[in-house]
Amino acid sequence: MTTPTLYDLERLARQAGVILRMNFGKRHRIGHKSHHIDLVTETDEEVEAFLVEQIRRQFPDHTIVAEETGVHRAGAGLWYVDPLDGTVNFAHGIPIFTVSLAFADEQGVRLGVVYDPMQDELFAAERGRGAWLNGRPIRVSQTQTLADSLLITGFPYDAWTNPENNLDHFAAFAVRTHGVRRLGSAAMDICYVAAGRADGFWELRLKPWDVAAAALIAQEAGAVVTDVQGGPLRLTGQVSILVANPHIHPQMLAVLRREPAG
Ligand code: IPD
Ligand code: CA
Ligand code: CA
Repeated sequence: MTTPTLYDLERLARQAGVILRMNFGKRHRIGHKSHHIDLVTETDEEVEAFLVEQIRRQFPDHTIVAEETGVHRAGAGLWYVDPLDGTVNFAHGIPIFTVSLAFADEQGVRLGVVYDPMQDELFAAERGRGAWLNGRPIRVSQTQTLADSLLITGFPYDAWTNPENNLDHFAAFAVRTHGVRRLGSAAMDICYVAAGRADGFWELRLKPWDVAAAALIAQEAGAVVTDVQGGPLRLTGQVSILVANPHIHPQMLAVLRREPAG
């Protein structure tokens, strides 16, 4: 099996970023997926087509799991592709979105890259070797208490209809911390924890491509990464995730366990 390098992922993410930047701010054709607020634009599709084509050409024996077109089955190497994480922001002209690429081998995710084309910030990690922002090593914060922490979260696309919509958790953290941000790109949110800009992040019912790259980046930057019950994170089906520095993680877990999710 040909194996990619971190540089291969970085190059692809930067090329995807050029397409995202070129299309940002234009009028978009907006489609709706599973729910009224689960959007897709022609740019999601264009970037995904570009990435899938490039990966298939350079690594024809790999399998690709891509958000808009599903599984492109081939061999053992496994790619997770989110061409545009933050579609709702993008569609509304808010310049907060990323492209996220991860490569996994038999032991799990080995390479991860999250690129924010508007700020030109490239977060990257290689399993066992560290995490970087534009080539400089990053580390989680050292904040010790929830009361001194800044958190980030997001809300599921079925929030209108599913009572387990994270609003209780949001309220519980809002009155115990410096605040809770909702940036709108889970991959970026998790990278901000990795870089020490925020102290913790949680979200319910994400998808593997939202978190595959960023979870590795956070882990390599010293974060504790689990599901919202504190168990190991699994990149299948729906992914409910908790990422925080080692001091804040148990404190967040205690709040998440006490409050119902609805
Ligand atoms: C979404 C973003 C958002 C999160 C949603 C995700 P998309 O991804 O990461 O922050 O709250 O749950 O689905 O649809 O923009 O790729
Ligand atoms: Ca996403
Ligand atoms: Ca997406």
